[in-house]
Amino acid sequence: MPAVIAMTHLGNWGPLVGVQGLGCMGMSEFYGATDEAQAQSTLERALELGINLFDTADMYGCGANEKLLATFINKHRDQAVVATKFGYVRSTANPDDWSLSNEPHYIRAAVDRSLQRLGLDCIDLYYMHRRVSDVPLADSVGAMSDLVAEGKVRWLGLSEVSAEELRAAHAVHPITALQSEWSLFTRQLENSVIAAASELGVALVPYAPLGRGLLTSSTFANGLSEQDSRLNFPRFTAANQTTNQALVEQVERLAAQRGITAAQLALAWLYSRAEQLHVTAVPIPGTRSRHRLEQNAAASGMRLSAADMQLLDSIATHVQGVAI
Ligand SMILES: NC(=O)c1ccc[n+]([C@@H]2O[C@H](COP(=O)([O-])OP(=O)(O)OC[C@H]3O[C@@H](n4cnc5c(N)ncnc54)[C@H](OP(=O)(O)O)[C@@H]3O)[C@@H](O)[C@H]2O)c1
Repeated sequence: MPAVIAMTHLGNWGPLVGVQGLGCMGMSEFYGATDEAQAQSTLERALELGINLFDTADMYGCGANEKLLATFINKHRDQAVVATKFGYVRSTANPDDWSLSNEPHYIRAAVDRSLQRLGLDCIDLYYMHRRVSDVPLADSVGAMSDLVAEGKVRWLGLSEVSAEELRAAHAVHPITALQSEWSLFTRQLENSVIAAASELGVALVPYAPLGRGLLTSSTFANGLSEQDSRLNFPRFTAANQTTNQALVEQVERLAAQRGITAAQLALAWLYSRAEQLHVTAVPIPGTRSRHRLEQNAAASGMRLSAADMQLLDSIATHVQGVAI
């Protein structure tokens, strides 16, 4: 039975959270079959283990993921920290036809819709899901800042912005967290964004820390159902599968030698790398399952030696296909 995980402050301004959060997206959409009862059981187990940062977005299941979280969040309002996002304009009538908006009037309407679906008066952490350059950043972050003043939102976050955008946004209103893809196989963030986040006291919330599942097993891609969105992602296509599976086989071998799973090794790599770079990182691995959640939580206390980090670096440089 994994112990309760450690806590940390989310950046210089944010709440006290477990050092690992839970990505809830797959509980509603994109990654194969969903099961409401299983999802609720996984959410309950998360809190028991000290995982109190729950990540959703208005676009996951076109609102269904926020609704799925509503009962749970309200039952545990004093413990759970809920993060949601705006930016993808999408409807149940035509879910494949989406666009992006950072317009202040859109943000004001989006937050009210999220509050209603979540059954809350206030969202803890509100992210801009994607930046679009047709609206000045100061206008969008200004609108987000107004939501804090109105008491609809507590803390602000951004997702997948550059170091310059992070600095510019932070000058308008303190940014608590930056959620961007970061894993052993996806490391663009390390070029300049992490240094900016560290300097500004912004916490990193790495999403897809398991490479969207790729890093969990060399046979992972073989088990994807026809409806799984990942079949269209470059890292999962047939053209790149042979190379990437062979790389994950090496990760698996290294993990087995250390008596842990590949997923745990990937998470241990992330925690170790964040420490090397002196940044707070609260990864949000996504899982529908209690058992896998427990495995992931246990990895929050694992750190790798410099030699293992080097070995993993040398494997990761060969990954094929861009991350999307
Ligand atoms: N800001 C953004 O643009 C953005 C984009 C994507 C995702 N996100 C957020 O980040 C969260 C995490 O990202 P992600 O779900 O895309 O990718 P991920 O966390 O890298 O991987 C999730 C996949 O790994 C599997 N998995 C999890 N733990 C496992 C374990 N211990 N052993 C074996 N398989 C395991 C999950 O399957 P099972 O469910 O079957 O366990 C799922 O298929 C999402 O839930 C979402 O909240 C944000």
